Amino acid sequence: MKIAIITGASAGLGKEFLAAAPKYFPDIDEYWLIARRQDRLEEAAKLVNKQCRIFPMDLTQTDSYRRLETELKKLTPHVALLVNNSGCGYLGNVGEGELDNQLRMIDLNLRGLTAVTHVTLPFMDTGSRIINVSSIASFCPNPRMTVYSAGKAYVSAFSYGISEECAARGITVTAVCPGPMDTEFIYLGEIKGNSKTFETLPYCDPVKVVHGACKAALAGKRNYTPKAFYKFYRILAKLLPVGITMKMAKT
Ligand SMILES: NC(=O)c1ccc[n+]([C@@H]2O[C@H](COP(=O)([O-])OP(=O)(O)OC[C@H]3O[C@@H](n4cnc5c(N)ncnc54)[C@H](OP(=O)(O)O)[C@@H]3O)[C@@H](O)[C@H]2O)c1
Repeated sequence: MKIAIITGASAGLGKEFLAAAPKYFPDIDEYWLIARRQDRLEEAAKLVNKQCRIFPMDLTQTDSYRRLETELKKLTPHVALLVNNSGCGYLGNVGEGELDNQLRMIDLNLRGLTAVTHVTLPFMDTGSRIINVSSIASFCPNPRMTVYSAGKAYVSAFSYGISEECAARGITVTAVCPGPMDTEFIYLGEIKGNSKTFETLPYCDPVKVVHGACKAALAGKRNYTPKAFYKFYRILAKLLPVGITMKMAKT
């Protein structure tokens, strides 16, 4: 049985990944959908004409990825696609606001993503694809979203590292780095209306991001950054001193 695992499939980009996946990965028989909201996952499952297995779970909790590991060991599927998409981001300086928000970003964006990848990789094989949703925030530190941007730098570096580890097994890993998108993310993180940078930057269309990401994954690319503007920013961030790019990237 060939399956896809998509985290954060209940909303935003993850839901779009689910909607687009059958076009790019037609041989996948079953989708395993992970997020906290069961009703939203059940609604999302109607988007595809394939068997879906719903995993209502909180990926900040160790029990959740242990349960995923148990299910994988029990059913021994071939995981043809893993989309690590669940994520959250909160605006605010370190030392201000809720500590829980800062820690949730680490627990979900770094720890959860690492754990899901770790328990899934033994069930992947030649031709399997991993898509890790990072961000343009990974290109340089974003003051006022310091933990988020440092975390996304980890997601990109982690993706490049495992792509090398997995190359001999024929598994590809693609870090996807979108700019702002009008999803629940910017409202939950109280970013919308509170960040001049987010008001000024060009927004990415989640549907286009997903199609570009699937094409990049099939082509075996290590990075997919949508929009010429952000491709240029990625190069600039590599060339300029961090002291300069950080001022531009302050959220
Ligand atoms: N929107 C942007 O501006 C933007 C820009 C660049 C990158 N990104 C990245 O894109 C990815 C998708 O975000 P989005 O924009 O689509 O935001 P979104 O609409 O808020 O979706 C986030 C998804 O993550 C799930 N999630 C949140 N907390 C979770 C938890 N504790 N355990 C399991 N799942 C959890 C949510 O489902 P439940 O609430 O049901 O759990 C939801 O399905 C994230 O990694 C984000 O960092 C977003």
